[in-house]
Amino acid sequence: MGIASSDGVILANEVSTYTPEKGGIHPREAARHHAMEIGEVIARALERAGLEAGDIDIVAFSRGPGLGPCLRTGATAARALASYLGVPLVGVNHCVAHIEIGRLSSGAEDPLTLYVSGGNTIVAGFEAGRYRVYGETLDIAVGNCLDVFAREAGLPYPGGPAVERMALKGERLIPLPYVVKGMDLSFTGLLTAAIQELRRGCWRLEDLCYSLQEVAYAMLGEVTERALAHTRKPELLLTGGVAANRRLRSIIQSIAEEHGATPHYVPTAYATDNGAMIAWTGILAYTHGVTTPLERSHIDSDWRIDEVEAPWRREGSRPELEIRRDEGAEPRGSKMVLISKGAEADLWLDEDWNGRRVIIKRRVKKSYRHPKLDERLRRYRTAHEAEVIHRAKRAGVSTPIIYQVDPEGMEIVMQYVEGVRVREALEGLSQEERINLFRLIGVKAGRLHGAGIIHGDLTTSNIIWNGRSPIFIDFGLAELSREAEKRGVDLHLMRRMLMSTHFPHVKELSTAFEEGYRNIMGAEAEEAIRRMREIERRGRYVKRENDMDADG
Ligand code: FE2
Repeated sequence: MGIASSDGVILANEVSTYTPEKGGIHPREAARHHAMEIGEVIARALERAGLEAGDIDIVAFSRGPGLGPCLRTGATAARALASYLGVPLVGVNHCVAHIEIGRLSSGAEDPLTLYVSGGNTIVAGFEAGRYRVYGETLDIAVGNCLDVFAREAGLPYPGGPAVERMALKGERLIPLPYVVKGMDLSFTGLLTAAIQELRRGCWRLEDLCYSLQEVAYAMLGEVTERALAHTRKPELLLTGGVAANRRLRSIIQSIAEEHGATPHYVPTAYATDNGAMIAWTGILAYTHGVTTPLERSHIDSDWRIDEVEAPWRREGSRPELEIRRDEGAEPRGSKMVLISKGAEADLWLDEDWNGRRVIIKRRVKKSYRHPKLDERLRRYRTAHEAEVIHRAKRAGVSTPIIYQVDPEGMEIVMQYVEGVRVREALEGLSQEERINLFRLIGVKAGRLHGAGIIHGDLTTSNIIWNGRSPIFIDFGLAELSREAEKRGVDLHLMRRMLMSTHFPHVKELSTAFEEGYRNIMGAEAEEAIRRMREIERRGRYVKRENDMDADG
């Protein structure tokens, strides 16, 4: 329970945390705990703020997402309080509230946000009226992964801090699966493998915690960096219950520095679920015309962050960030220009590489990753990317020509492709041209999948349009597979990109894409498209089942 004033002062932030006796959170038990404590917590908050109940002007509550029984308890209390006081009721989105309290308490204005907790793992940024999701977990949340592992290892709840304490005493990196798909990630494989290693009993628990944390946070770092490079936001905000972790903070800081963005961290008091974040977001909403009539104040345990209008956020200007040049990082010659700095690699333009205009893709060290993990990823991706590009070309998909691969130097020299990234090109096209282009992109995606190639980062940033054909680039996360599930993830990444970055055209572009894709893939297309839809829904379902956020 929190109380905030309209000028952004937090007057009270009282908590009464439910701690499960053993195992994970039991939704009903948690709800019962909330119901029993709520009266007392409200009284304490008023006292702390030095206010009477009659001084309250609006009552805000969390409508979702989260555990149904807990949300219901909070909503019922809020409805009763608002009716009793005769003041308006405002239903707030829990995830938006984590971002807003982060902005308020850290001073960030228009950050790219990594929101990590027991129930959610989301990379979001404000764009065209709403918080858009650039990436999220495809299965469980990172906090949930740590909690479940901690429970298996007999560590106390909550798991995150316990694993962090253990990890401080670890030093050996045990190989564990690292699963990143574009800006999305997956933690179930990592959790399963970590538990298997635990049961085998041949590692020190400290080393296992250390490795689990290193891999999980490096994955978070990579998707965050990719989204930062994509959105070019001037600030990076870390919020949510897992935001207190020191290792994760250092990773965020390193990424922000690398991209010339300012890092911000939510203070520990507002990191885990708290009433102040709901109160403050309620004020933002109310002062911009949003209220929730009693008859529409039902909870929504699957309420997605990108379904919420955020009228209090004016369209922020998007300053072009200057890329910080690393002195001495220039590989050779003086005609080289650093043209982009991504999560995957730095791209250099060389005007005269043996008489050719080329792009040199260098997978530079990422200081936020464990050196062993970093080297393994960079070496593998360099060799693998070149191989997949050849295969894609054979399948009839335009890609840059590869001139040289240096797996030791982690460098690929490839043709400079003339044209504009589809992401930027779209805005200058007519509706008909846009639709034709997307049908063509669907055809090419079908060719890739038909040849057993999963792109792994299928977005409008990774396709170049030269006016004749779309050219696919950036196969660093590609995989060779014919599984419908993996094809579905690829399609999901493209759809996610359309939703976050090309929102006004999402319907026409999706339809055109699917049309082209079906033309090539025939019957197999239906299965992949079905999986894509299922993946969208699955994210919501799993979040509900595993949502450890006990508060609202
Ligand atoms: Fe939360």
